[in-house]
Amino acid sequence: MDETKRKVKKRLRNLQSLPTLPPVVTKLTKLLGDDNTTALQLAKVIEKDQVLTGKVLKMVNSAFYGFPRRISTVSNAIVLLGFNVIRTLVITASIFEMMQSEDLSLWEHSLGVAAAAGLLATKLEIPNPEEVTTAGLLHDLGKVVIRAEFPEYQRQIASLIKEEELYTREAESRVLGLDHGEIGRLLTNQWNLPERLIEPIAYHHEVEKARRFKKETAVVHFADIIIRAWGYGSGGDPWVPPLADKAWKLLRLKEKDLEELMPQLDDRLLDLRFFTMEMQGGGLDQNPPSQS
Ligand SMILES: [Fe+2]
Ligand SMILES: [Fe+2]
Repeated sequence: MDETKRKVKKRLRNLQSLPTLPPVVTKLTKLLGDDNTTALQLAKVIEKDQVLTGKVLKMVNSAFYGFPRRISTVSNAIVLLGFNVIRTLVITASIFEMMQSEDLSLWEHSLGVAAAAGLLATKLEIPNPEEVTTAGLLHDLGKVVIRAEFPEYQRQIASLIKEEELYTREAESRVLGLDHGEIGRLLTNQWNLPERLIEPIAYHHEVEKARRFKKETAVVHFADIIIRAWGYGSGGDPWVPPLADKAWKLLRLKEKDLEELMPQLDDRLLDLRFFTMEMQGGGLDQNPPSQS
């Protein structure tokens, strides 16, 4: 077991770029870490990569963000969405593609969690709710990577879930020695994502471990459970995990909040069905909006 864990960790470390994660991401991360970077500099780096530009513009103009007017340049997108959103958008665009080709039900699960997390964050008045949305979208990143990079282990994990009725993360720990939360933590650290994204991704199943972004982590934890209970997409096993006490205490949601939230979520999930069709129909690479 320890041997497997070591092997997996080593392979993750060497995963300089996911097949989908372009080297431009590393460059962007560096620029984004520098306070003096301007939107124009950033746009220049992204625009050098045509495929990436297409992906970013396609996502920005999709129903997922729902801006009323068409955004045709990367610098406009940066001004509208902010640096951090763009950085995660670049990574997300790459991971999206991988998720779509790997497993549609996990992609739907992730979109659902993103929507629920965004609504919860707004209701709870957490600053930068769009970042909590992104954390929701990427929360099961570890699963995507296991499926794409370790198919041989994924087969074992899937049969353990079935045969022994385990939660995905229990099966992952047994087979790999670490679960998708830890894999998410390792990778998001490696990619220098902001801590407010790392913690919810790493600890969405272990809320008590969050240090700086406890509420954000509790939101993603709760969103994951709501979406599983809703039956929207699939997180890899059919079970709905219990809500952690710690999360419930952190969120302090009232019954009234939930009553308001559920119909909103229902609407958002319906929108997302269209979004999924939209993204699948054109594919992320095709027909990038033309530059003006
Ligand atoms: Fe998870
Ligand atoms: Fe999940």
